[in-house]
Amino acid sequence: MRIILLGAPGAGKGTQAQFLMDKYGIPQISTGDMLRAAIKEGTPLGLEAKKVMDAGQLISDDIIIGLVKERITKADCEKGFLLDGFPRTIPQADAMKENGVVVDHVIEFDVADEIIVDRMGGRRVHPGSGRVYHVVYNPPKVEGKDDVTGEDLIIRADDTEETVRKRLGIYHEQTMPLVDYYQAEAQAGNTQYHKLDGTQAVEAVNQQLVELLG
Ligand code: AP5
Ligand code: ZN
Repeated sequence: MRIILLGAPGAGKGTQAQFLMDKYGIPQISTGDMLRAAIKEGTPLGLEAKKVMDAGQLISDDIIIGLVKERITKADCEKGFLLDGFPRTIPQADAMKENGVVVDHVIEFDVADEIIVDRMGGRRVHPGSGRVYHVVYNPPKVEGKDDVTGEDLIIRADDTEETVRKRLGIYHEQTMPLVDYYQAEAQAGNTQYHKLDGTQAVEAVNQQLVELLG
């Protein structure tokens, strides 16, 4: 099963990807996590990406398309994958189509901007795995520690309110056009499009996904 999780920053893509990975046994491909790993390793890509990400801007399409094309050829993607944060521009979506990548489900997370700004203020992440928590809505078992490894959780560099608002603006300009794009793909019978209410609690969104995907 190949799934695209489409939604604004903070809409809950990463949170639900964790749930879907466990339930369906398919890997999460988060372009944001891949870029953060490159930054941590200090690769040339990482050095370039850091400035762009901290400013809340998008990395160039060519770089991102190259990363994903390579990633989806890996053996663990044979049964499918979850695309989290990709595609987020029309050229990225076109590149997948031109590459013959058939997507079974596109899932749009609908969450208003003000809810997102509130959520991002309490987000904590485990940098090693990309696991995501929230101090109130999805707290770890031990405060400030990852549930699996016990390692420290951190605040993402791009989670300041100013940068979150910038990322939301870019989402509306550059990524929202994908809503029409994939709805048209669904009408042409090339994929299935679902819109879910991302403002509900984490478990309620889990439940909506199970109902959609079976
Ligand atoms: P990326 O890492 O993809 O960030 P994003 O798209 O901005 O999304 P987030 O990870 O911020 O949000 P999410 O939807 O995963 O929400 P989460 O589950 O964590 O990208 C980062 C940067 O990398 C980009 O800005 C760009 O520079 C670059 N980049 C990445 N991909 C790119 C691409 N394709 N092209 C170009 N550039 C690219 O949840 C958020 C918080 O809310 C958490 O605290 C969580 O616990 C909480 N929460 C989740 N669900 C609920 C709920 N139902 N109720 C209450 N709280 C909830
Ligand atoms: Zn995420």
